[in-house]
This record gives sequence, structure tokens and C-alpha cells, in this order.
Amino acid sequence: MYRILHNHKNMMANNILRVLSLLAFTCSFAFTFEPSPLQDFCVADFSSPAFVNGFACKDPNLADATDFFYSGLHLPGNTSNFLGSDIIPVNVAHIPGLNTLGISMVRIDYAPWGLSPPHTHPRASEILTVLEGMLYVGFVTSNPENRLITKVLQKGDVFVFPMGLVHFQRNFGYGNAVAFAAFSSQNPGVVTVANTVFGSNPRIGSEILTRAFAVDNTVVESLQMQF
Ligand SMILES: *[C@@H]1O[C@H](CO)[C@@H](O)[C@H](O)[C@H]1NC(C)=O
Repeated sequence: MYRILHNHKNMMANNILRVLSLLAFTCSFAFTFEPSPLQDFCVADFSSPAFVNGFACKDPNLADATDFFYSGLHLPGNTSNFLGSDIIPVNVAHIPGLNTLGISMVRIDYAPWGLSPPHTHPRASEILTVLEGMLYVGFVTSNPENRLITKVLQKGDVFVFPMGLVHFQRNFGYGNAVAFAAFSSQNPGVVTVANTVFGSNPRIGSEILTRAFAVDNTVVESLQMQF
């Protein structure tokens, strides 16, 4: 009788363990964002030879205010380029104290009708606010709907671009526009659609691009020449 009870107890324990490990497994899928810090801060030590997810920490006793500081976002970017826009990033490369904190930001300047072309951030959602001017912004949902969601933003408006989705902003007026945006990553990354598809090094073969875009070789070549 004792043995039967004991076995029964073991079975119960096994079942509970199974449920717990399943829960842990499911939860680990829910945490697809940057891991939470395990200490107050981990100022990036760019000279460390260690390859870790992010950067190794410098000795916390040596950290000072300059590790958490950046200056210059009051200055406009240079929009004298083909797109008529400029991005000034402030991420872990500029503030080493952002390492492991899962946030960063940019200033974006737009000349009249300037464009921030379709792109994605592979590691971050983005929340953007307009400080000056007017912007036409949008993003496209994933397959198979590929729905375009757009909005015209005025000064003071805020818009969100969900993680990984292709999005853009265009200055919707004759004056300059300025936006600040924050990211849910210390290092959001940028994948500009045109540059990656038509400007990769080396080139993606035309037999791939002609079929992918249902166009002939001359169209692919002329696009590749732009990037
Ligand atoms: C802005 O960029 C253009 C093109 O690269 C350059 O000719 C010009 O000198 C730059 N202006 C400033 C203020 O840096």
C-alpha cells in the first residue's frame, strides 16, 4: 500500500514537473525581447575581446557620467542628399551605458518632401514623435495581408512602428520637419529594403530578382545601378 501511494506521489510530482517545464518553455517564447539587466548597469567595454550578446561590461566602479551621456541632438542633421533626410542615431555605440538596457533613440531631419525610405528595424519597435512640421508615415503588415497602415502626423503627434515591419516617413510639407524616435533595443539595426535587395555586396543574381519582382533583366540592372 505504501509503495502504491509512493508511486502515485512520484507520478504526481512528475506531472507537476512536466507542466512546470512546459510553462517555462512557453514563457521563454514570450521573452523574445532583449533580456532584462541582471545588475544596475553594464557599461559597454568596446575593447573587451569577449563575444557576448551585446557588449561585455566595464568595471562598474570605473563607470562615470560620461558613460550615460550624449550631447548634440539640438543640432539638425544634413538633409542635402538624394532622399532629403538625415538620421542621427543615439544607441549603444554612442552611449556605452545603454548596453543591456534595451532602449535607444534617433533624431530625424527631413527637408521639404524629404523621405525616410521603406526599412525595418530587425530588433526593435519604434515610437516616433513629430517636433516640427508634418509627416506622412506608414507601415505594411506581414504576409499574406500586406495591409498598408498610414497617417499624417502633425507637430506633437506620436506614432508606433511595430517590431520588424517595413515602414517609412515622408515630410508632408514645404518646411523642414524634425522627429525624435525611441527604440526597444540598444541596437535596433536598420534594413533599408532598396539597399539590401538591389545594393547587396555581392549582388543578388538577376535570375532571382527578375522572378521575385516579375520584371525583366533591364529593370533589375537599372535598379541595381541606383544602389
Ligand atoms: C551637407 O552635405 C552635403 C553633401 O554631402 C555637403 O556638400 C555639405 O557641405 C554638407 N553641409 C554641412 C553643413 O555639413
